[in-house]
Amino acid sequence: MTTLTVTLPAARYDITITSGALSRVGELTKAQAPHRRALLVVDRAIVHTHGEVARRSLQDAGYDVAEIHLEASETHKTLQVVQRIYGVMLAHRLERSSPVVAVGGGIVGDVAGFAAATYLRGVPLIQVPTTLLAMVDAAIGGKTGVNASLPEGGMGKNLIGAFWQPRAVVIDPHTLRTLDKRHLRSGLAESIKHAMIADGALLDVIAHDADALVSCDLDTLATLIARSAAVKVKIVQDDEREAGNRALLNLGHTFAHAMEPIAELDLHHGEAVAIGLCAATHGAMLLGMCNDKYAMRVQSLLNTIGLPVRMAKPIAVDQLMQAMLYDKKVTSDKLRLILPCEPGVCRIVEDVPLAIVQKAWQHIGAV
Ligand SMILES: NC(=O)c1ccc[n+]([C@@H]2O[C@H](COP(=O)([O-])OP(=O)(O)OC[C@H]3O[C@@H](n4cnc5c(N)ncnc54)[C@H](O)[C@@H]3O)[C@@H](O)[C@H]2O)c1
Repeated sequence: MTTLTVTLPAARYDITITSGALSRVGELTKAQAPHRRALLVVDRAIVHTHGEVARRSLQDAGYDVAEIHLEASETHKTLQVVQRIYGVMLAHRLERSSPVVAVGGGIVGDVAGFAAATYLRGVPLIQVPTTLLAMVDAAIGGKTGVNASLPEGGMGKNLIGAFWQPRAVVIDPHTLRTLDKRHLRSGLAESIKHAMIADGALLDVIAHDADALVSCDLDTLATLIARSAAVKVKIVQDDEREAGNRALLNLGHTFAHAMEPIAELDLHHGEAVAIGLCAATHGAMLLGMCNDKYAMRVQSLLNTIGLPVRMAKPIAVDQLMQAMLYDKKVTSDKLRLILPCEPGVCRIVEDVPLAIVQKAWQHIGAV
């Protein structure tokens, strides 16, 4: 078992990583929020597997459990769904000390987290991530939120949200056994991102263990989760509210957020991040911030994992640039990007020339 502790000015919580942790959710929740009633928010796809284990564990710990099942899709990551959760919270008479336990991937964690952050101005949240992406990234650090409809149509990612730290994060690598390979690979994209930001040697580990990781070897995955989550913990501890270096975690994401809503690309979040990492690395290379050897190494590692490195369809550069302007990381008319320099080192660049950004898009298949 590995336990990481997140220590922040106003919060401190443990991330427990061990096979079998799911059946201890009740006990771990009770230690943080010993109220009589709890709300269990579960990804619809895993209600009868992992959801069932979590519910039994909460009931065994003495909770009267209300349950709500969510569809894990970006189109359901909305305020309307949060409203539905409020309805169940009110019907079940949840109080200020009643915990919300989120069992699922990043979508369930973000939506349930936002409901927990805002109901009665905040109730205890326990994150129980069941995708690799959520284990190494989304469940840690307190960002919660939903997408918003844009005035001219389409969806803006995570535009409405709140910082709300969980009281505990419970990671059971065993839950990854039911996750399909495509989503497992998507999670590996976020681990590669973490390695590029702050743990250069992790790139070698992922390259070395690629086969074991993709074939869901649980011990290898548990080791990766602990190391990758540790990067996130460190960054969040240094900058909880993204006033500075937490923005490094957005490496590849400004590109990814522009690609994700384009239905014809059919990209999962981590896949869009993988392509975004290639775009960012190419941009950095054009600016002389990293060498072509590093850019090729990143691309080759993504290839080894089976992640995409360019868009499958030729999308217009103008469309992608427009989408970027709606991303919340864009300040006024300047384009702020996170760009890699060398393994384990990235920089926030405030004013990237648009011509470089366009070339980066072209590098990953835009026309
Ligand atoms: N809050 C943050 O800091 C943060 C960080 C990164 C990403 N995110 C958000 O996370 C979301 C992506 O998360 P995700 O990749 O986990 O996607 P997801 O929540 O959509 O889950 C992926 C798929 O896996 C299924 N699933 C989940 N657990 C499973 C399991 N154990 N077995 C079988 N199927 C399972 C889901 O039903 C879904 O179909 C995005 O909305 C992104 O914006 C948030």
